[in-house]
Amino acid sequence: MKGSAGAILLQLQEKVGYPYTLLTPDMYRWGAGGGASWGTLCGTLAGAANMINLVVPAADVPKLVGELFGWYSSTALPTMNHESYAKFPNKTQSIAGNPLCHASVSNWCAASGFRETDEERLNRCAMLAGDVAAKAIELLNSYHAKNFTPAYKVSAETAKCQGCHVGKTSMLGNTLTNMDCAPCHPNAHKK
Ligand code: HEC
Ligand code: HEC
Repeated sequence: MKGSAGAILLQLQEKVGYPYTLLTPDMYRWGAGGGASWGTLCGTLAGAANMINLVVPAADVPKLVGELFGWYSSTALPTMNHESYAKFPNKTQSIAGNPLCHASVSNWCAASGFRETDEERLNRCAMLAGDVAAKAIELLNSYHAKNFTPAYKVSAETAKCQGCHVGKTSMLGNTLTNMDCAPCHPNAHKK
């Protein structure tokens, strides 16, 4: 099974069943490597967001998906919390900083010294897929138990940038993102 997006579906089929049993992981072949190896949205998140989408009213989808993306961006992954991870020898963790496959994989390669093409990297993404599936299920369970409260908040620095660049009431309204700006715009307004 190649690709983390489909792996999420397989886990939900096993742990939850219907409606996930109606779907095939072949839907997510495109998601490998952040979308045909373009390194955009991490495939695990693409898969998990779709799964959330199917069982939550439209108005609440962005709340749960946003929480999942924020958690992914700011958490040291893989968590190493799952017993099944014992069989993987490499325990390097890294923080992606945003939901992009590119940042996630590159930060892990920098931290671990492995190449993207090494088997350790594939194992790392498999563990990460397990973490994302577990987190998505945790969010859905708390949502259905009516005790879901979003925990993720953008950094104070990014909130400041957004104040002028993002949203109807911002000065410019010329940008649309909740990702931290600084890693991509380290020199903004510093000239
Ligand atoms: C007080 C309002 C304000 C805040 C806060 C603000 N910006 Fe801007 N930003 C502007 C304005 C106005 C322009 C266009 C004029 C200019 O270039 O200064 C701009 C231009 C830019 C540009 C395009 C021009 C360039 O410098 O490359 C980028 C990128 C940018 N901002 C990123 C950011 C980031 C990242 C932050 C947070 C660290 C931020 N901005 C915070 C008002 C703001
Ligand atoms: C993952 C990287 C990434 C992140 C995160 C990101 N940006 Fe950008 N941003 C870009 C790229 C790439 C462009 C296009 C630059 C180009 O074509 O020259 C861009 C363009 C812009 C521009 C227009 C630049 C110009 O020259 O007029 C602004 C303004 C901007 N971003 C603000 C922000 C703000 C504010 C945030 C955070 C809330 C942010 N960006 C987060 C990558 C990013």
